[in-house]
Amino acid sequence: MKKLASHISAGNGGRALKAGGSNKNRRGETAAKPDPAVKRWFAAAAETFSPSQSSMIPMLQSAQAAMGYLPREAMRVIARHLAVPPALVEGVASFYAQFRYEAPGKHRVTVCRGTACHVRGSGKLIDELGASLGVEAGRTTANGEFTLETVACFGACALAPVVVIDGKVSGRVSVASLKAEIDQTGKGARPARAAKARG
Ligand code: FES
Repeated sequence: MKKLASHISAGNGGRALKAGGSNKNRRGETAAKPDPAVKRWFAAAAETFSPSQSSMIPMLQSAQAAMGYLPREAMRVIARHLAVPPALVEGVASFYAQFRYEAPGKHRVTVCRGTACHVRGSGKLIDELGASLGVEAGRTTANGEFTLETVACFGACALAPVVVIDGKVSGRVSVASLKAEIDQTGKGARPARAAKARG
């Protein structure tokens, strides 16, 4: 844990959260209302996870599994449960690529950027899709429709380049077939075939 702690910025000054008290932050701004989804998740999680630091990563994973992402408020309640500074929890979470901090879009598009896929053009897929959706990898479109993600390898390298849309795997994807799939997905319909095999 010491090693991880060195990644933590001093931004929050290591202050422990108070349970209750003022609803204003230190700048005097009114704090946001409690997130009911976080409240619901924590009601069960508090019973499941012991208040020891070994629960930190399982709790982060549990929160993300329940809400699809890690709201800051969830990290704060985890900190409170474990009696550690919120900055410690945020620092640990930021150490792992598995955690995301924005609510995912309605549709998740994950493009493999592994070596086999890269050699077969996945970089171009990411660039073209990012330009067409107006987002960078790791972000969600402003209308909340699509989240564009990348992954190191799906383990389906023979099908490179590989794209997964809402859990459906498509192999040998071209820019044109990917755009067609995205158009169909955005319209709420799925084409019979996600992507045509090239060659
Ligand atoms: S490198 Fe893309 S699936 Fe393995």
